[in-house]
Amino acid sequence: MAVVETASVTRRVELGRSHVRLRLRAERIARESLPGQFVNVRCTPLAFSRKVFEDWDTFLRQRRAGGTGATRTLLMRPFAVYRRWKEGPEKGQFEVLFKVVGRGTAALAQKQPGEEVEVLGPLGKGFDLDWCRRLSTAVVVAGGVGLAPLYPLVEFLRSRDVHTIVIVGVISEHDVPIEVADSRVTLSFVATRPDLTITAKEFERLGCEVGVVALEGDKGYTGLPTEVFDRFLHWSDGGARGEAGVFTCGPWAMMREVARHAAEHDVRCEVLLEERMGCGVGACMACACRIRAANGEVVRKRICVDGPVFDGSEVVWDEG
Ligand SMILES: Cc1cc2nc3c(=O)[nH]c(=O)nc-3n(C[C@H](O)[C@H](O)[C@H](O)COP(=O)(O)OP(=O)(O)OC[C@H]3O[C@@H](n4cnc5c(N)ncnc54)[C@H](O)[C@@H]3O)c2cc1C
Ligand code: FES
Repeated sequence: MAVVETASVTRRVELGRSHVRLRLRAERIARESLPGQFVNVRCTPLAFSRKVFEDWDTFLRQRRAGGTGATRTLLMRPFAVYRRWKEGPEKGQFEVLFKVVGRGTAALAQKQPGEEVEVLGPLGKGFDLDWCRRLSTAVVVAGGVGLAPLYPLVEFLRSRDVHTIVIVGVISEHDVPIEVADSRVTLSFVATRPDLTITAKEFERLGCEVGVVALEGDKGYTGLPTEVFDRFLHWSDGGARGEAGVFTCGPWAMMREVARHAAEHDVRCEVLLEERMGCGVGACMACACRIRAANGEVVRKRICVDGPVFDGSEVVWDEG
């Protein structure tokens, strides 16, 4: 069940040009969140938001004038639970990993250890863990900061001994949401392998095959993550390798391609949609996306409560 917790910031790390990792102490969220669930974070202090409601005329005036920092960060912002610790010295803490794109994320990026933020969660419906348990191979395709919700999933898959391949697409190795390192290890299913690759140690430590694919630069795999994913699909068509599953999160166009190619190869794919939200708890329909029901009818579903994870074959992809 979702709870509101006042979380204290315990660690803050800047990554690349625009990503921040914030560790928060919030016992229940750390203990109860499942892979794929998210939290709503109040990026601007509550007292400041209350002031806006108290001075409603000013609020409306500012809004008509195009909005201010106050109005734009009034709503909580959704973030995936990236890391969480249920035991050990970090017990009771979780991390969000985010890209600074606007007022809310800019305000959140300023938080320092010792400061507090209000957090609501865990929210939403995560990955189908019963299905995950039965897989022999999983391919996880992340685009940029879309890898955040995929970490707990990979952790779960590896704890069940599922052979897991993680493909992370980034613009360049200088603007990545995680720590990367040069490596000599290559993806097993890629025929033409570069001498030097880029890996994400945090995922590698879980025991998966990792390939960072950069759009710019000449090191490692270059191009789009979907191109590397395609090579996996063609390779896996070659023989019976047990049940495979695909998971993706990132830019809409990337997820659409991953879902389409997976369907063409008859592999089930779960997608995590990170569209703009309003209330985050099912009340406003701001996050509605179009889903094709089993009878073929297209219905609107709320990403915040019916998702954010959906079956890739159900999403109507011609928007976004
Ligand atoms: C379930 C879920 C999980 C998410 N997890 C993460 C995460 O782990 N890390 C992370 O960095 N982001 C995540 N996001 C996206 C994040 O919520 C937005 O980037 C954030 O709300 C932007 O707030 P802002 O005030 O900084 O930007 P705003 O000032 O509101 O907007 C700035 C710009 O960003 C665009 N924008 C705003 N929200 C989104 C969005 N959801 N998707 C694409 N563009 C957007 C706007 O169109 C605008 O151009 C998640 C979203 C959802 C729905
Ligand atoms: S954000 Fe309000 S219904 Fe989903």
